[in-house]
Amino acid sequence: MKSSFRRYLLLFIFAASVISCAEDSSRNYEYMPNMYHTVTYETYGEYPVFENGQEAKLPAEGSVPRGWMPYPYENTPEGFAAARANLKNPLPYTEDNLAAGKQLYTIYCAVCHGDNGDGQGILAEREKILGIPPYDDAGRNINEGTVYHVMYYGLNNMGSYASQTTITERWLIDQYVMKLKNDLQGGPEREFDQTQRGAEPARNLIPAINAEKPIIVKDNGRGVSTTSGDQENQN
Ligand code: HEC
Repeated sequence: MKSSFRRYLLLFIFAASVISCAEDSSRNYEYMPNMYHTVTYETYGEYPVFENGQEAKLPAEGSVPRGWMPYPYENTPEGFAAARANLKNPLPYTEDNLAAGKQLYTIYCAVCHGDNGDGQGILAEREKILGIPPYDDAGRNINEGTVYHVMYYGLNNMGSYASQTTITERWLIDQYVMKLKNDLQGGPEREFDQTQRGAEPARNLIPAINAEKPIIVKDNGRGVSTTSGDQENQN
């Protein structure tokens, strides 16, 4: 009994003396340093072997992210005029595309521009945003090039939609805006294009509104976010 007590006491003294060697003000022993320090280079780490000592490199000049295409028209009056003259909608005018465009238009634009594009959306009615023009405004004479340009850069009280929508989505919205303009002007109904058989319908390019892939609504703790299975990441 006595001897085991002494053994425990010795063990205690030994353990206490080991622990008491730890000093707060300086580096202590690391028993298994490999557990703490990776041998590979860490992301954004600083290492002398790299130019500028930085692990993170800038992409080569002129690199373009996957799925992204540069927009060649500048945010200037000249750029606007050039977009009006040259920028054409690459999507075929089909029933599916028009329906997809309507859906996106309702999400992004109708609050201000109104469901039929007369400029009397709910925010206009409540006088939160003023000066929203109807799409058939003669002075503005919008066309598919200017609509895309304005969505890309925004215009005064209207923000840019470049980061919220993909290229395809903007063209779908554009198509629907041009239909609304035509309806407001009482123009004849535009005929749908005959698309080639086997051609990829544009709606397959937009996972968020592709009927076969349900929209997933998840709570991320900061409110609800809506995502779809995979993201087309374009600007
Ligand atoms: C927050 C309200 C708001 C939203 C949302 C909004 N707009 Fe606008 N939009 C405006 C205002 C205000 C103007 C007039 C800007 C000006 O000329 O000062 C305008 C102007 C326009 C014009 C005319 C530009 C020209 O050539 O003079 C077009 C086309 C247009 N918007 C399209 C859209 C589309 C497409 C969407 C959705 C992607 C959208 N807007 C969303 C407020 C909005």
